Amino acid sequence: MVQVTLPLSRSAAAAAVHSAPKTGPDHGIRFTPALERELAPVYDRMKRVVTPMEWAHYAPFVKAINDLKAERGAVILAHNYMTPEIFHGVSDFRGDSLQLAREAAKAKGDIIVQAGVHFMAETSKLLSPNKTVLIPDLRAGCSLAASITAADVRLLREAYPGVPIVTYVNTSAAVKAECDITCTSSNAVKVVESLGAPRVLLIPDEYLSKYVQTQTDVEIIAWRGHCEVHERFTAEELEAYRDANPGVKIIAHPECPPDVIGVADFTGSTSGMINWVKTNKPRKALLVTECSMASNVADDVPEVEFVRPCNLCPHMKRISLEAIYESLRDLKHEVTVDPDVAVRARRAVERMVNLNN
Ligand code: 13P
Ligand code: SF4
Repeated sequence: MVQVTLPLSRSAAAAAVHSAPKTGPDHGIRFTPALERELAPVYDRMKRVVTPMEWAHYAPFVKAINDLKAERGAVILAHNYMTPEIFHGVSDFRGDSLQLAREAAKAKGDIIVQAGVHFMAETSKLLSPNKTVLIPDLRAGCSLAASITAADVRLLREAYPGVPIVTYVNTSAAVKAECDITCTSSNAVKVVESLGAPRVLLIPDEYLSKYVQTQTDVEIIAWRGHCEVHERFTAEELEAYRDANPGVKIIAHPECPPDVIGVADFTGSTSGMINWVKTNKPRKALLVTECSMASNVADDVPEVEFVRPCNLCPHMKRISLEAIYESLRDLKHEVTVDPDVAVRARRAVERMVNLNN
């Protein structure tokens, strides 16, 4: 039985919420027949999910961003939840949290633009301390990261002396600095078992912790943080989709509640889910996760029909082509981590990265 600890305080930690003044697009690039021809191979990757009318708006941004990237020596790391025009149009690397952390550690160029949320940009900064790391919108937070503070973790240490603390990467650098090692949804079981301890605190996602508990004999002590996107799915809703779509394969992320995972055919990280669909090519698939994932994988598996309960992550959706363009143009918003915090947080992240290497 997984043990759940109640949050000790509610103060938001990770997501710095600011309102950035908006300036209009000034890329001066028009959607001409020549541009349409030049970017035709790029549009090809997303034409199943982006209409020609939308593309006429996106294409000039795609051109302007790719030109600016080359000029500035920048790379764009895009999470699997980015919209297709970002995912296929301007990103240099795409993946789940672990893959993006690995890419950040070896990224070439002087600038990393994180097309994802704030904790991911902090992780990139920890692993690439000499690079400028930009997040296109500072409001791109995460309900899991906001569910726990560094002070909470210090209290947990007092409450559970000697018990190692594993933190999901969906936390602030300040929280990571108080923990022994980080994990992602793709390696949580491996990280927990690597510690060789009979009991481990796995924070802050209660549902990920409960899922890991089903995969290991190590006793897991959980925190009560939740992902606001995955906690909304219900088993009843999925059963109704299954009734309406006989034979549909249900693929879930481990941030989903246990009864949702209970009805799934496969559970894994965002990239694990994508790989499962690419390998198994079911006739119909339902990805129990953020809405853009199905759009991004559509081109790779045209034979698969996606059934879509559409839950959007409001934080991921802060990142738009326009915001990325302005970020590269004005070199904003730079993500920094306090040096004392960075030393300790980096240790926890590198311990995970090295474990997987
Ligand atoms: P992944 O590591 O599976 O990409 O998860 C990140 C995330 O935020 C899922 O909600
Ligand atoms: Fe956080 Fe959930 Fe959004 Fe992922 S989907 S960034 S866990 S709120």
